[in-house]
Amino acid sequence: MNDEMDIKSLTPLKNSDVPYPFLWIGTWSMAGVGYGRADERLCKKTLEIAYDFGIRHFDTANFYGRGRAEEIIAKCFSPKRTSCFISSKGGLIWQGKKVLHRGRPEDLKKQLEISLKTLKTDYLDLYQLHWSDPEVDVKESIDALRDLKKMGLIRFYGAGNLNIFHIQKAVKEKEFIPFQLPFNPLRKKNLEIFRFGKKTGRTINLSVSPFEQGLLIDPRFLEKSPGKKDIRSRNPFFKEPSLKPYINKLFSLAEKCPISTVSIIILYILGFDDIDGVIPGPRTPDQIKDIIECINLIEKNNLKKNALHGFLKGLSKGMIWNSLKRLEEISKKIPTQ
Ligand SMILES: NC(=O)c1ccc[n+]([C@@H]2O[C@H](COP(=O)([O-])OP(=O)(O)OC[C@H]3O[C@@H](n4cnc5c(N)ncnc54)[C@H](OP(=O)(O)O)[C@@H]3O)[C@@H](O)[C@H]2O)c1
Repeated sequence: MNDEMDIKSLTPLKNSDVPYPFLWIGTWSMAGVGYGRADERLCKKTLEIAYDFGIRHFDTANFYGRGRAEEIIAKCFSPKRTSCFISSKGGLIWQGKKVLHRGRPEDLKKQLEISLKTLKTDYLDLYQLHWSDPEVDVKESIDALRDLKKMGLIRFYGAGNLNIFHIQKAVKEKEFIPFQLPFNPLRKKNLEIFRFGKKTGRTINLSVSPFEQGLLIDPRFLEKSPGKKDIRSRNPFFKEPSLKPYINKLFSLAEKCPISTVSIIILYILGFDDIDGVIPGPRTPDQIKDIIECINLIEKNNLKKNALHGFLKGLSKGMIWNSLKRLEEISKKIPTQ
């Protein structure tokens, strides 16, 4: 592992003694709920390929498929527990078909206990507040996570989907908590939140849904809309016709390049100073192999973090970079929540 790529601000996680701190694997789509059916055998194989390659960070939530994703992680990694870095989340629960926020201290403790049981482990490396609960002071929820750490149930705590106000209120300067937000060329506006967290030493920034749930890398979604049961049918970017020609353009430029769209998007994300890591969600062996190809590319070319955007700018006489910039521009006009 190249020291330059060994992101300094991930220091709290370095104790875990694992490689590739900048790329974790997410398991939301493996739960088979929301992203359509998932084949458990292929999901397990995907995780095994990641592990065999050297990836050790795996991100999940009990909320994903009502524990289904955690069960798959347990099946793969229980026997190798201490060599893995497993992160899960609390704060969202299912009640029938409804999603409820539950961020009170007693709720978070109860949800963590369920995650520990499902993951067949007595500790988590990282436990995160998935979303803030509108009925609970966000500081109360984060304080609850600090207490769970004191109890020895989790090694680190973190959060996701907070705004600047929340971060300022609940996280101390130089506390460096892992923090998840969707980020890719279509989600550039989230950079402002990451930047605030980074500048004040409050957060270690992780880009989730880096491929915008597949839209930015899979031509299938330009031809056919996701089915009604697929959460992507509610994603405004999937419905937006003005994006399609530019995503198509990116695909056709990438075809003539020595690197894939998967690698283009990962390099784009990691090239930002304010972003420390990326969490893609592959669920088939082919998909994880695309991601491994990107890590190999970084290593083979000895690409330092501050050289990633320059590398992209050098592809296709700058046309790839221009396409990414165009996607950033168009997305500004598309309302998201
Ligand atoms: N904290 C939060 O609120 C939050 C929010 C979102 C995500 N996350 C975390 O981030 C992880 C990633 O998010 P995501 O699954 O939405 O993101 P993603 O990586 O942007 O999208 C994953 C989907 O993209 C498609 N895909 C096609 N080729 C792929 C390839 N080579 N590699 C990966 N995916 C490919 C797959 O769709 P098909 O399976 O249909 O082929 C896959 O399910 C989640 O698993 C979760 O751990 C956290």
